[in-house]
Amino acid sequence: MSKILNIGSLNLDYVYAVPHFVEPGETLLSGRRGVFPGGKGLNQTVAAARAGAKVYHGGAVGVDGDMLLDLLRSAGADVSAVARVDVPTGHAIIQVSPQGENAIIILGGANRAVSPETVEKALDKVEKGDILLLQNEINGLDPIIRRAAEKGLRILFNPAPMEAAVKELPLHLLDTLVVNEGEGKALAGDMDALRAAYPDQKILLTKGSRGASLWTGAELLFQPAFPVKTVDTTAAGDCFLGYYAAALAEDLPYADALRLATAASALAVQRQGAAPSIPVRSEVEAFLKGTY
Ligand code: RIB
Repeated sequence: MSKILNIGSLNLDYVYAVPHFVEPGETLLSGRRGVFPGGKGLNQTVAAARAGAKVYHGGAVGVDGDMLLDLLRSAGADVSAVARVDVPTGHAIIQVSPQGENAIIILGGANRAVSPETVEKALDKVEKGDILLLQNEINGLDPIIRRAAEKGLRILFNPAPMEAAVKELPLHLLDTLVVNEGEGKALAGDMDALRAAYPDQKILLTKGSRGASLWTGAELLFQPAFPVKTVDTTAAGDCFLGYYAAALAEDLPYADALRLATAASALAVQRQGAAPSIPVRSEVEAFLKGTY
């Protein structure tokens, strides 16, 4: 079984239930606020660990980051490559609508203070053929991708949150580019153009309630979503990717990996919050057997 390293963000999520997303000039009353562990990196690590993978997390938190490290440890992840820095922990302000949709503002904080030494310490945890998960919420992605490719890691990169600078990254060194439709469009215009621009990369397109598609060379796989009642979609994509990576680490065929990841995110959207919504493997297996 391969190991998984995630050099990724760790956020405190301030989640506000709102009747609708706040509009320009509007002051909106929220009926409820929760504080949850989150960050795309942390969510993916928790998902991979709850799926049963051996996972290492690299990154940075401030003095206020204990809740995040405790959660990662309790999920079974190794956090010895998470540095404590003199910058407040990253955070997210998340509005959740009655339909379960979200709108998110993030402040990078410690996630933008990941040092080259921390990156090296994290990369030392894994070997050639192991999997590296990355998102666009930490600093220093360009050298991380180059060092990881030199080491022979399989890099799965989700360019969220999307910004123009992502196009300047050495994406041709990735194993898999993981995008939603908005990110794919921002990177290349449409999926055909994206596949033409990165012919040597697998491309995994997540479409929420419309399922997921995976291009591996000439082959296209499609996994429909499972119809469920959505409460909160926060971290559903992260849950999907963490489970997908764990399935690859087990050498499951791509079609099985997509099915497992889709089932995991179907459970996550039925629960509130980011990391707390991520199911354990036995729940996902039971859901797939129809016994959940
Ligand atoms: O993908 C969901 C995550 O995005 C939240 O947990 C929030 O912290 C932001 O990083």
